[in-house]
Order: sequence, then structure tokens, then C-alpha cells
Amino acid sequence: MKLNKNFRNLQDSYLFATIANRLSDYLAAHPDAPVIKLGIGDVTLPLPQVCVQAMEEASREMGVKETFKGYGDYPGYPFLREAVRGYYRSYGVELKANDVFISDGAKNDVANILDLFAQDNTVLVPDPVYPVYVDTNVMAGRKVVYISGNAENGFTPSPDPSIDADIIYICSPNNPTGAVYTKEGLKEWVDYANERQALILFDAAYEAFIEDPAYPHSIYEVEGARTCAIEICSLSKTAGFTGTRCGYTIIPEELERDGESLNQLWLRRQSTKHNGVSYIIQRGAAAVFTPEGLAQCKENIAYYKENTRMLAKVLDEKGIFYTGGKNSPYVWLKAPGGKKSWEFFDLLLNDLNIVGTPGSGFGENGEGYFRLTGFGSREQTEIAVERLRKLL
Ligand code: MLT
Repeated sequence: MKLNKNFRNLQDSYLFATIANRLSDYLAAHPDAPVIKLGIGDVTLPLPQVCVQAMEEASREMGVKETFKGYGDYPGYPFLREAVRGYYRSYGVELKANDVFISDGAKNDVANILDLFAQDNTVLVPDPVYPVYVDTNVMAGRKVVYISGNAENGFTPSPDPSIDADIIYICSPNNPTGAVYTKEGLKEWVDYANERQALILFDAAYEAFIEDPAYPHSIYEVEGARTCAIEICSLSKTAGFTGTRCGYTIIPEELERDGESLNQLWLRRQSTKHNGVSYIIQRGAAAVFTPEGLAQCKENIAYYKENTRMLAKVLDEKGIFYTGGKNSPYVWLKAPGGKKSWEFFDLLLNDLNIVGTPGSGFGENGEGYFRLTGFGSREQTEIAVERLRKLL
């Protein structure tokens, strides 16, 4: 029996696990410290009531012989797949019925989709970015190359024709920087991918935070994307499903590589390895896309955005450079005084009892940066803002 030696090439622990460990060490030494967590992007508002009602109703159906459900459809129940199509239609994207696959979250699909691809593909990852893209490919032993996101290119790098990549990750609005690609910016990547027969994995987990109508919510708003892109999305941040688990992945029917339909390969993979998301959760998820559900989600997102606005304001007052905040739940700031990311993490934890996320955890280009999230409660964010105002 031999282990997968690629695991040796990973960092000792996953970024957010490292932060959680650092915090528990700190709390062991300072049990009464009033720590405010603005690190991992986990929601704090409860689920929209319309989702709770739908799940209650679905639970009752499961207890009645006539409405009980066993195994569901591998790609998800048609009622939810259709609800997702309706949502895309609301911003002008027409999906085909079989394009939509329901999942138990974007993180899982971002990792699982790699089952479809050979090991000897070169993977292109913008730096800084969500660490799951790199870690999952390192686990599989794939070559990862980077393209630099930085203040000069607004953290939305354009393709570099000298880099020959097979699989390209794009996250917009970006985690961690909050930067959003314009349609023109995405078109450059779509053209690059189509020319080379490469594939884009587009992470749209934060699309619901876009408030500026100029920015696309989906890569399929860009011409040519259906022949080169898979889009992965989540209800975690849109509707507070971080603990409930539901998302969706779009694989256009006409997307082919090596003469095979990626949509069909994914269906084959899912029907072998996945028995779907529970009926109860899918009913809750479908409620998100009702007019009432969308309104409740919008209200919650506005609440989180007010938190980011408050955090951004204190940075403005102090003249600290930052991006994000506006079309994203994250504020990405330059650590003051030229501090390194983990130095600033320790300073905030020890002196202010605030936990954030060190930018270097998202890649080398994140060194010297720091991420704060707007997902905290209003009360805790207000206290954090006061503490930051005093220290920075
Ligand atoms: C984050 O904080 O970057 C996210 O919550 C992580 C995730 O969605 O897995």
C-alpha cells in the first residue's frame, strides 16, 4: 500500500484550519479575550425564512407515504435545476435544461471536477486566490503555474500569451481581493481558452454581491464562454447555506474536449460517486430563487455590505490602501507599516482581539496584504471598527 506522496507537497494545514488553530492556542492562553472573528467568510445571519419554511414542508413530505422520496436524480431535482435556469435568465443568460447540476457546495465541486482531467494538464492560477484551487491540484500532482494579480492590474490579470495553460481558474468577484472582471476582461480569457482548447473553471460564489450593473454575474454573459467554461456557484454566501450545503455547477452541453462532452463525463462521474443533495435541502435551495427568497437574500447581503462599508471607511480615514468591499463581502487591505501578513495577523489578534486572514495564505502576491470579512454580526463589526480606528 502506497500513499499519495503529492500530499507532502502541501502546506501543513489548510489556510483556514491554520487560522483556527492559531486562534484556539490564543484562546487557551487568554480564555476571556473578547475575540471578534473576521477571518473565514462564514455567514452569521440565519437562513431566509422562506427557505426554512420550504425545508419544514419538505421534511413533512418525507414523513408521509404518498410524498416520501428515496434517491433523487443524479444531477438534482428538476424543480431546482429549473429555478437556477430562471435565475440566470433574469440577467440574460439562457441555459439548457441539462446544463445545470446541483451540488453540495462550490468547494466540493471545485475539487471534484478535477476527476475529469488528466494529471499532465498545466493549471493556471491567478495569485492571490482561493487556496482550494492550488491545494486540490497539488494533491493530484498537477503542474500549477501562476499569473500575477496585483494593485497595478487591479487584481484582474489578463492572459499572458506566453503561458500555455490547459485549465484556468477565475474567481470573480475575487476571493480574496474583491476585484471583479468586466465583460471585456473575461472575453480576453474566453478567447485565450477557445484558441488553445483550454478550459476555464469559473468560480461565481460571490456573484450575488455584485451591485454595479456593468459587471457580469456569469461567464456565460460573455460570447464564446459556452465552448470553454464551466461555472461553479454556491448558495453559501448568497443565501447563508455554509452549514446547509447546496450549490450548482453549469456545464454547457456543447462543451467538448478531446472529442468528449464534459457534461456527459460529469454526469457519469456524479452518478458513480454522488447520490445528490437531500430533497429537503434542494427544496430550501429552490426557495432562494422565488421573488420572496431573492428579496430576503438581498436584504441579508445588504447587511453584510454595510459591514464591509464600515470596515472600508476606517481604512479610508487612515489612508490605508484596500480593494474590494463594494461588489464583494471582503475588504483586502495593505498591512500598514510594511508589515508581513502573518505579522499583522498576530498584531490584530494580540492587540485588538480581531481575527482576519493573512493575504499570504492566498499566494505569494498576497504577502503584505490582509483580508477582513463583512460576514460578522453588526454589533461585532462595530466593535471591531472602533478597535481598528484606535490602533491603525
Ligand atoms: C473563505 O473565507 O475564503 C471562504 O469562506 C472559504 C470557503 O468558502 O470555503
